[in-house]
Parts: sequence; structure tokens; C-alpha cells
Amino acid sequence: MSTLAIETVNLTCRFEDLTAVDSLNLQVKKGELFGLLGPNGAGKTTLINMLSTMILPSEGHAKVWDLDVKKTPSQVRQNIGVVFQGFTLDDRLSGRENLDIHGRLYGLSKHMRKQRIREVLELVELQDKADVLVKTYSGGMMRRLEIARGLMHHPKVLFLDEPTLGLDPQTRNHIWNYIRCLNRDENVTIMLTTHYMEEADHLCNRIAIIDSGRIQALDTPENLKNSLGGDVVKLVVDNEEIASALCRLYIKNGCAGNVHWKKSSIFITIKDGAHQIPHILTIASGANINILSVDLHRPTLDDVFLSHTGRAIREEETSEMGKFGFVFRTARR
Ligand SMILES: Nc1ncnc2c1ncn2[C@@H]1O[C@H](COP(=O)(O)OP(=O)(O)O)[C@@H](O)[C@H]1O
Ligand SMILES: [Mg+2]
Repeated sequence: MSTLAIETVNLTCRFEDLTAVDSLNLQVKKGELFGLLGPNGAGKTTLINMLSTMILPSEGHAKVWDLDVKKTPSQVRQNIGVVFQGFTLDDRLSGRENLDIHGRLYGLSKHMRKQRIREVLELVELQDKADVLVKTYSGGMMRRLEIARGLMHHPKVLFLDEPTLGLDPQTRNHIWNYIRCLNRDENVTIMLTTHYMEEADHLCNRIAIIDSGRIQALDTPENLKNSLGGDVVKLVVDNEEIASALCRLYIKNGCAGNVHWKKSSIFITIKDGAHQIPHILTIASGANINILSVDLHRPTLDDVFLSHTGRAIREEETSEMGKFGFVFRTARR
């Protein structure tokens, strides 16, 4: 038996001239809680769709629990649970009814459905709301029910596509706890996608940072952050033009490879940042550049992403939230 839950070899998905997933090679071990972290449009959902046999790869291979997604899609589906990015519950039915339909689709007997519904509802603490119509649920409750539904048929691998998209921080925390428990107590291998770096950081054993369909970095959250090799000094100046000029100045002064700018902010990754700040400020004042603020922090995954792609993950958040709000409104009509 392989120790891998998911393995892809040169997995590729093209939509006409756009390559959404580009020759991806990935190995996820059994029992892992693995995260795909990347901005909107990175190719996360497309990857999940290929692994869960929703769409066919254009090229390459993928195995889930040792089963080839192209050759044995129905067997793959028996072994996986999927919680899609968009809303997929029937809100005119109760929570229990939604779960029961899913159990029937997977051929569970009446007795097994009854027992499993009780178990999964308990897992996500929705017992009290089981017989209430889903349209009266909050966003967080709907998400919990979707996770419960994904677990109905005891999957070996659970795919969670943006499990906390658009939820408030408290609800998000709550859902993180369920995800951790599932992974630990139900022994489910989990692959989740997210563009929230805190989510990937808090939850995942390992993270693949993905952008433009490619893996930019892959490691444990700690190793990814340590890989930057120092502290991050963030400077804010008056505008983007000044930021880029100052950035070039720092590169000229020997910080090549460790300096990035984003809008009017400059990020310098440097060993022993606190001691370097005076030197950094001297260079700016020597060029008559006014520094509005200075901040020193340990690298975050956002800094890691920035250093690999020159872009920030964060700026994508607002548009995604809007998208999810729309999904809920449509569902609640
Ligand atoms: N069915 C489709 N047809 C054409 N383009 C698509 C389709 N699905 C996704 N894309 C494009 O593929 C890229 C990756 O999308 P997606 O996998 O949804 O990214 P993510 O989930 O990381 O936000 C985007 O540029 C998106 O517009
Ligand atoms: Mg997506």
C-alpha cells in the first residue's frame, strides 16, 4: 500500500489558451492536512475539480488513494468527500434531509444513513438544527452542514474548497476546530484550498503556495516562513513611485533578492531586522525620502508569497467575499 493519499504527475488543465493548472507534481501523504494557498484565479478549484473527477485533466496523471482519476473515476468518488467552493445544499430541505439524500446517492442503507447522520451532525454540532429548513441557517451553519455531508460515506480523502470563504472570524475559528478534529479523530486526509494565509498557517501540516497554476513553494508553514531567512521590515512611503525608487536604491545597496514593493509599501527581508533599521532609514534619508511608518515583524505566509511572486495574497480578499455573499443570497431566495 502506498503511503500517498494524492499524487499528481505533470497534471495540467487548459481552458482554450489559458493554462489553469500547469504541469503540477504533488504528493500528499495519508493522514495529512494539506493546504493549497493562493490568490483568486491561481488554479486551486481547477485542481480540486480534477482530483475529485469533476473535470478531466488536459494532460498528466493523478491518483487519489491509489486510484487513477481518469481510468477509475467512480472508484475515486467512492473514496472522497468534496465540499465545493459555492453553495450546493438544497435550502428548501432540512439539514437531515440534505444528508439523507447524499447517503442514498452513495447507496447507504436506511439503518446506516440514520446512524451516520447522527454521527456527522454531532461532529459539526448541528444536532439541534437537524430538522430545521436550511434556508434559516446562518452561513457558518450551512458550511458545517456541507462538511457533514462530505463525511457521510466515510471518505478517505476530504477536499475542502475555500471552507471559510466569506465567514466572520469567529465562525471561521469554529470551523477550523471541526477540520482539525476530522483530520485527527476521523483519520481523514484533508486537502483544503484557501486564500487566507492565517487559515493555511493555523491548520495545515504542509502548504503548497500556488500561483498561475504552478507550485511556487511547498513545505511546512514554519519552514516556509523560516525560508525567508530573517525578519521583515516594512516601510510605508508617500506613493508607489517613491516606493519603487527606494526599492531600487536598496537593491543597489546590496539587498538584492530581499526587497519587494507593493503600492506605497516596501518589504525588506533581513537578518536581525531591529539592528538594521537605522541603516535602512539612513539610506532613505540620504535620498531625501520621507518614511511614513516602519514596522518589524517575523515573516508571514503573505511575505513568503510576496517573495515568490512579487504580489500579495491579501488584496484578493475583498472581491472573493463579494462573490460568496452573492452565492448565499442566491441560495436564500
Ligand atoms: N470552466 C472554465 N472555463 C474557462 N476558464 C476557467 C474555467 N474555470 C476556471 N477558469 C480559469 O482558470 C483560472 C483558475 O481558476 P480557479 O481554478 O477557479 O482558481 P482559484 O480557485 O484558485 O481561484 C482562472 O483564470 C479562471 O478564470
Ligand atoms: Mg476557487
